[in-house]
Amino acid sequence: MPLPPWRPLLKAAQQRDSRSPAARWLQLATVSRDGTPRVRTLVSRGWRSDDQLLLFTDARSEKAGDFSHQSCVEVCWLFAKAKQQFRFRGAISTTNPAEDPLLCQHYWATMRDSGRALWAWPDPGADLDPDASFPSELPEQSTPPDHFLVLTLQVSAVDHLDLTHHPHRRRRWLVADQWRERRLNP
Ligand SMILES: Cc1cc2nc3c(=O)[nH]c(=O)nc-3n(C[C@H](O)[C@H](O)[C@H](O)COP(=O)(O)O)c2cc1C
Repeated sequence: MPLPPWRPLLKAAQQRDSRSPAARWLQLATVSRDGTPRVRTLVSRGWRSDDQLLLFTDARSEKAGDFSHQSCVEVCWLFAKAKQQFRFRGAISTTNPAEDPLLCQHYWATMRDSGRALWAWPDPGADLDPDASFPSELPEQSTPPDHFLVLTLQVSAVDHLDLTHHPHRRRRWLVADQWRERRLNP
């Protein structure tokens, strides 16, 4: 399949916001085991393929439990300078070092030492132990821990809102519709 038509639009928005670190931050919404919503910020780690968004997380975090019973998620990605919002829906799949050591080692090495260090911190969300150690760096040669989790979001629907036009411009693409563009009321 050719490059989905929303990819160049996303790239243009990323380029417009490229001077801001926040251009790599997106919000990931999941459904928790009790059916209530959860949302948090993650760093975009790029694309595994044309329609597979790459994210990293910690298998000890609550969100990892959410994926195991409901893999359908939504991502909201705002580009403030470009004044554009992208929302991606799809299914998350997870890969840990026991399942694919080479893949995890490869992605582990793409992070900075300070980024890798977070996986050496105590369990996220547990009560703070004032005596626990929180390393500030982990070298590239280190082995990814068992709880390093590579997330792949297989995108199946995209909703794009562009505030730079009057009226605002809203479009939707579905993989089930071969990514054909539909114009919607904003
Ligand atoms: C700017 C920013 C970037 C973040 N990037 C990530 C990330 O890439 N992966 C991740 O697991 N958590 C990231 N976090 C932390 C999450 O937002 C969240 O607090 C943590 O993962 C625990 O979430 P959970 O309890 O819902 O599982 C980031 C937080 C901020 C503020």
